[in-house]
Amino acid sequence: MIREFYDINLSERNSFHVSQRAARLVEFDTATDLVRFFEREQPERWMVLSGGNNILFTADYDGVLLTPVGEQITLLGEEGDAVRIRVEAGLEWDDLVAWAVERDLWGIENLSLIPGKVGAAPVQNIGAYGVEVKDVLTAVEFYDVEQGTMARLEREACRFGYRESIFKQELKGRVVITAVEFALSRVAAPKLGYGDVEREVAARGGATLRNIREAICAIRRSKLPDTAVLGNAGSFFKNPVVEASVAEALLASYPEMPHYPAADPAKIKLAAGWLIDRAGLKGYREGCVGVHDRQALVLVNHGGATGGEVIALARKVQQTVKEKFGVEIDTEVNIL
Ligand code: EPU
Repeated sequence: MIREFYDINLSERNSFHVSQRAARLVEFDTATDLVRFFEREQPERWMVLSGGNNILFTADYDGVLLTPVGEQITLLGEEGDAVRIRVEAGLEWDDLVAWAVERDLWGIENLSLIPGKVGAAPVQNIGAYGVEVKDVLTAVEFYDVEQGTMARLEREACRFGYRESIFKQELKGRVVITAVEFALSRVAAPKLGYGDVEREVAARGGATLRNIREAICAIRRSKLPDTAVLGNAGSFFKNPVVEASVAEALLASYPEMPHYPAADPAKIKLAAGWLIDRAGLKGYREGCVGVHDRQALVLVNHGGATGGEVIALARKVQQTVKEKFGVEIDTEVNIL
């Protein structure tokens, strides 16, 4: 099924709640609906607007926004302890996590409460508390608009990295993700190594799937603003990955600075939230926009902000961190 909207206000379709408009928005249910749509017309300008949780509109959009709404979960099969599923792109990510936890399936519990839909998860390889979606994802199914066909990529071909994938690079603006496949596990494999997770899980009586989900939800709720109350797009910046020598020089001045190994052993990942916080910007406010007072990596709309105001604050944050620590921080959110 396809549903169309014209000259639509996007404020309820982006988690920053900025009031830009789109000339047209098309909701599609199944991959077949999407294929039929592209067979019928070839829009000159289009893009995917999924849950709108990682996007900042700075202007009205004069093309066609494509939004997946199919939510079906299909069991593909079981191999040993692994349970393989295919999930349509329009399902809320956290509804999938709840579904898995209810069925005693391990693998995505640490990704509880990440806002967004399933189809968006592979694009930036969503991650939290020591787990990334690439750890459980097996394949991504999409419509290739350039080729005019459905296609599929196995995990290895998706080129996943920290908040990175082929869908943000070569395939950007070329494909519409319709479904994602995962291999979950019947065998308990708690991952409690990150931050407060172990303590919060112990406080709930031990490492069961439900306790881990509850602990992660509690930690997230305590730090990250609820988009229904305060417009935001989660982490606005990526954690910077710097040369080991840069990290060492900073650690000499700030021994308490959080730092983590990076995929490249010659590099170190720093915590942008800490850098922004230590640059004195946590809770900083400029008119309608601000730096969140409990997690400095998150920029918030206090009400009525335009995309341009958010960008202006983001530039100021980047510049201040650069001046104080000599480190560049890149935006994680898509800016349109
Ligand atoms: N920190 C501060 N002040 C702050 C924020 C953080 O000192 O205002 C320090 C923390 O105390 C900690 C370190 O910085 O030592 C890292 O902070 P945190 O554990 O909160 O995680 P993060 O690196 O800031 C990343 C992800 C989050 C994810 C958390 C938990 C990115 C860009 N962000 O944040 O993802 O939930 O780890 O795994 O990688 C998102 O992408 O939207 C998102 C929320």
